Amino acid sequence: MKYGYFDDLAREYVITRPDTPLPWINYLGSDGFFSLVSNTGGGYSFYKDAKLRRITRFRYNNVPADEGGRLFYICDKDTVWSPAYRPVRTPLDQYRCRHGLGYTVFEGKKNGVSASLTVTVPMHCDMEVQKLVIRNDSKEEKTLSVYGGAEWCLWNAVDDSTNFQRNWNIGEVEVEGGTVYHKTEYRERRNHYAFYSVNAPADGFDTNRDAFLGQFRGWNEPLAVEKRTSFGSIAAGWAPVAVLRVDLTLLPGESRTLLFRLGYAENPEEKKFTALNVINKEKAHAMLAAFETEAQFDAALKELRAYWEGLLSRFTVKSSEEKLDRMVNIWNQYQCMVTFNMSRSASYYESGTGRGMGFRDSCQDLLGFVHLIPERARERILDIASIQFADGSTYHQYQPLTKRGNADVGSGFNDDPLWLIACTCAYIRETGDFSILDEPTPFNNEAGTEVPLLEHLRRSAGYTISHRGPHGLPLIGRADWNDCLNLNCFSREPGESFQTCSNFESGKAESVFIAGMFVKYGQEYADLCERIGLKEEAAAVRLAVSDMEKAVLAHGWDGEWFRRAYDAFERPIGSRQNEEGQIFIEPQGFCVMAGIGGPDYGRKALRSAEERLGNEFGIELLAPCYTEYHDYLGEISSYPPGYKENGSVFCHNNPWITLAWCKVRDGNAAFDLYRRNAPAYIEDKSEIHRTEPYCYSQTIAGRAARTYGEAKNSWLTGTAAWSFAAVSQGILGVRPDYDGLTVDPCLPDFMDGCRISRLFRGTRYEITVRRGDDKGLTADGKKLDGCTIPLTDAPVCSVLVTI
Ligand code: BGC
Ligand code: NOJ
Repeated sequence: MKYGYFDDLAREYVITRPDTPLPWINYLGSDGFFSLVSNTGGGYSFYKDAKLRRITRFRYNNVPADEGGRLFYICDKDTVWSPAYRPVRTPLDQYRCRHGLGYTVFEGKKNGVSASLTVTVPMHCDMEVQKLVIRNDSKEEKTLSVYGGAEWCLWNAVDDSTNFQRNWNIGEVEVEGGTVYHKTEYRERRNHYAFYSVNAPADGFDTNRDAFLGQFRGWNEPLAVEKRTSFGSIAAGWAPVAVLRVDLTLLPGESRTLLFRLGYAENPEEKKFTALNVINKEKAHAMLAAFETEAQFDAALKELRAYWEGLLSRFTVKSSEEKLDRMVNIWNQYQCMVTFNMSRSASYYESGTGRGMGFRDSCQDLLGFVHLIPERARERILDIASIQFADGSTYHQYQPLTKRGNADVGSGFNDDPLWLIACTCAYIRETGDFSILDEPTPFNNEAGTEVPLLEHLRRSAGYTISHRGPHGLPLIGRADWNDCLNLNCFSREPGESFQTCSNFESGKAESVFIAGMFVKYGQEYADLCERIGLKEEAAAVRLAVSDMEKAVLAHGWDGEWFRRAYDAFERPIGSRQNEEGQIFIEPQGFCVMAGIGGPDYGRKALRSAEERLGNEFGIELLAPCYTEYHDYLGEISSYPPGYKENGSVFCHNNPWITLAWCKVRDGNAAFDLYRRNAPAYIEDKSEIHRTEPYCYSQTIAGRAARTYGEAKNSWLTGTAAWSFAAVSQGILGVRPDYDGLTVDPCLPDFMDGCRISRLFRGTRYEITVRRGDDKGLTADGKKLDGCTIPLTDAPVCSVLVTI
């Protein structure tokens, strides 16, 4: 079942009923001011940091779900309704929510009045602007009252939801014309304020939530709205809000546009006040003046559209598969940008208050956006590398504001260092910018420790080489990619972190997955060394890679598939010798991508993965699922069977299998897996899948779960980047390379070909892929050997690939 449809031309997903199985959200903003907006107008805003500068409040586990957000009320005689359906929940004559790239439009109709509400965060602007167009479609004059509102968060989102003995005393606002200013703690140490404003004389306002709502009422039935009035309340402590009322009279056919603006501004210490404790509002005035008219708003929306059009035009495909095209051209790349902006911080599942930026997450996200914003990718790589330690290990996370490693979580996730090689090589292949390798980059952010970035990569490789266990395989540490496979932690204390508790340092548990990573990225590092003239180093690394390959073949191969690990007692994990957890997905993906054992082992491993782990939504993480908790395995066995790392389809690693199928040149199998969890392909199973049909989720419950097929944790997942890598570099086969662009498609038999447009190092490659006997590649009419088109200065290069 569907709850809407894709409008590919407009690059929108159009939701046609408000009762989607879960809130289906969108992201606004790309600089400092960010908003999340659901298909019924819910969500929250923050400035840069979702914990420390939360602007509006959100309750993640509220009942009813998704309350708050954009609070609009239209009073028409006795009927009160909201253009986005919520908060009032009056059934509408028409409801539509159009999620576009960086904006969302709600179109509601009721009793002959239509309201179109467009919300966006304009570029270079710390403000969400909400354009509300109200039109009288009836034959009689309408007298309406319109309310727009927001509930303030007292800045620190954690404090705001815990420290009530203080919070209920500190809320403060100012009101000036049609603008409410939120200034809690501004009198003392804060230098920032927020504001909510309408571009028309307000006929009334409220700033005290309890006065506006009245006792025992929720946002769906505020007392002020019921009485069609405003109380002019001024918040003193408790919960400050901003609600503005505008009364309108509309003749038949007449319409009126209102701009509501939710902004954030900072003042220098010496310019905070204009009188005792009165905010200096200069900045807000200027920001509001920039969005006073509809024309200004429309121009900003146009600029935003042009920005996205520019970004997305860097990679497009046209094929017979419209679902493939819409994933590649629009939604997958859009999600990659959202993961760039948000990392894992703020979604409807990530509260924005916990995890900082993950080392491995950030490195992998980069694989999905490096072609879109290479300059930002450069900066990101250097930030990430700066939290590495001198021995090559690294902090697992860092805080985006301070860019400092997070000491609570510490280090010891032994896959982390190798991801730095993966993303740096991807960056150089995309941009040709070898100079990044010379960039002085500190260890643990300590001034004076700077070494060229290349040295960081060297230490990454070195760390794996020098930390190996009894079978010559890499030591796993606290965990590898699978955060929940904790073979050295042995936690028995409820609530204790599975990763950081440590009461059993075996120094023995090993990871076949990291071995696969090392073979793949070790080779990449050796290639890089060779390119920059470090021949001896390249040879030494190749030797280590080949040793590792041997160790995997000797101790990591189980007969039909690759094993997963060895535990602290040197027993295999992910082997037929185990009762549960006999096979895991991760090593099948990485060892095959790395080419370990060649295509024969590869095919065998992938077939085993399909047979034992395959379901209609993809490849499950492991089977059989663990039915009991084992302290020697850790968090993985804490999840009920079929959920999360214990046997769901953990979408992040499915693209590894897709890429592995491409590696063994099976385009049918690769595509078959790709389409099983590409959101657009499962749109018509939305009642089962439940999360948004336009973005990937982290996990889809496996067959062992009670809710098989149900996805969770949409948006902020490494699935976005890896899925884009799988489809663009594997299936479509367009791979940036040091010396040129490789085009080596691996299409399923049913596809006759496709057209791809790819901007690479300043040249636009217009690629036609077709089937035919005359196999090979021609670039600008010239037949080439192999499938890499050498770099060119030409602005356009036209490529024909016959497969
Ligand atoms: C989750 C993992 C996550 C980890 C981070 C676990 O509970 O299942 O997906 O990476 O926490 O600490
Ligand atoms: C989510 C984490 O963000 C990611 O780093 C990890 O690899 C997966 N969970 C698997 O545990």
